[in-house]
Amino acid sequence: MFITFMAVLLLFFMLPLSISASGDAFIGVNIGSDISDMPGSTEIVSLLKAQSIQHVRLYDADRALLLALANTGIRVTVSVPNDQLLGIGQSNATAANWVTRNVIAHVPATNITAICVGSEVLTTLPNAAPIIVSAINFIHSALVAANLDQQIKISSPHSSSIILDSFPPSQAFFNRTWNPVMVPMLKFLQSTGSYLMLNVYPYYDYQQSNGVIPLDYALFRPLPPNKEAVDSNTLLHYTNVFDAVVDAAYFAMSDLNFTNIPIMVTESGWPSKGDSSESDATVDNANTYNSNLIRHVLNNTGTPKHPGIAVSTYIYELYNEDLRSGPVSEKNWGLFYANGEPVYTLHLTGAGST
Ligand SMILES: *[C@@H]1O[C@H](CO)[C@@H](O)[C@H](O)[C@H]1NC(C)=O
Ligand SMILES: *[C@@H]1O[C@H](CO)[C@@H](O)[C@H](O)[C@H]1NC(C)=O
Ligand SMILES: *[C@@H]1O[C@H](CO)[C@@H](O)[C@H](O)[C@H]1NC(C)=O
Ligand SMILES: *[C@@H]1O[C@H](CO)[C@@H](O)[C@H](O)[C@H]1NC(C)=O
Ligand SMILES: *[C@@H]1O[C@H](CO)[C@@H](O)[C@H](O)[C@H]1NC(C)=O
Repeated sequence: MFITFMAVLLLFFMLPLSISASGDAFIGVNIGSDISDMPGSTEIVSLLKAQSIQHVRLYDADRALLLALANTGIRVTVSVPNDQLLGIGQSNATAANWVTRNVIAHVPATNITAICVGSEVLTTLPNAAPIIVSAINFIHSALVAANLDQQIKISSPHSSSIILDSFPPSQAFFNRTWNPVMVPMLKFLQSTGSYLMLNVYPYYDYQQSNGVIPLDYALFRPLPPNKEAVDSNTLLHYTNVFDAVVDAAYFAMSDLNFTNIPIMVTESGWPSKGDSSESDATVDNANTYNSNLIRHVLNNTGTPKHPGIAVSTYIYELYNEDLRSGPVSEKNWGLFYANGEPVYTLHLTGAGST
């Protein structure tokens, strides 16, 4: 009787909360290293501490930086770089070695909380797509063997461009070419309580929309109520591009019948400088976007589809990366110059930091 009652109670509480990202959302920062004058690990950690940055994501598992992050309380996401993915996806032993050298060697002193297996693999390294799930599984079994699988989540960041027909969000689906990868990956994320990791760039959505997306909508600036985008299927109102993209990802997962996987935004930001064809890459817009993004995330606003569900987000990025190729904007996503000077001072009331 009691057990039945408990079971009913449990069901009652579990059903409406089919998705739950535990706790409050946080803001983290990506640390790229395509920098001619790359600051040393100690300088990087001093900057993080001075700015009260508690969460960082690395694009590799740089040993010196991981050592410098030890005993700082800073939470660290490490990554398997794309150029090591094939080896790891083809060999359980290579995966186990990677985990031993880059994770087990550093925890618990360095608080590694997640591993990104590759970066935008489906769109930048499609040849590796067939082995990405085995890479994830091999890394997972190495964490299980080390009894670290509960505290360290594994996932693989995707470009939001794998989501098609993303407005209205309720119509969104993953490019079906990738179903043979997405379905087992989502099964893995579901069974391990991990996140769908997504890079969300309203800057590019805005740029590529040829004027269809208003700048204010991309920058989280208030819109007149009659300008809000309404999803005609769900009647949900969208006040910014970021939420629309995150909801499109939730809907794309439901299209494959996955309804309980939380989302973590592994990259989002706005460039502060561009070339003549990138007139919206300005300090003002970058500051507005990042300041509003931080407020939005830390407020635990969630999205119209899942209000109040945490969408933790890593800002792209800590430093301007002067060695990146491509348009001028590519080198100007950072909050700081390599010498630690701020590119601009974020408008964050009460945060007491730039
Ligand atoms: C490491 O980070 C996790 C997740 O934020 C936290 O729960 C845990 O207390 C941290 N551990 C240490 C030793 O700070
Ligand atoms: C892969 O290696 C892990 C240890 O890292 C081990 O527990 C697991 O059994 C191995 N799996 C296979 C298929 O060999
Ligand atoms: C879906 O992905 C495939 C493989 O990358 C690509 O060739 C195709 O153009 C994509 N479809 C759309 C509509 O973007
Ligand atoms: C999702 O579930 C529905 C209803 O059970 C089913 O008809 C559909 O084929 C499933 N879709 C996928 C992609 O598994
Ligand atoms: C903060 O969240 C509340 C709902 O919890 C919402 O009404 C409000 O608009 C949000 N503020 C910002 C700045 O996102």
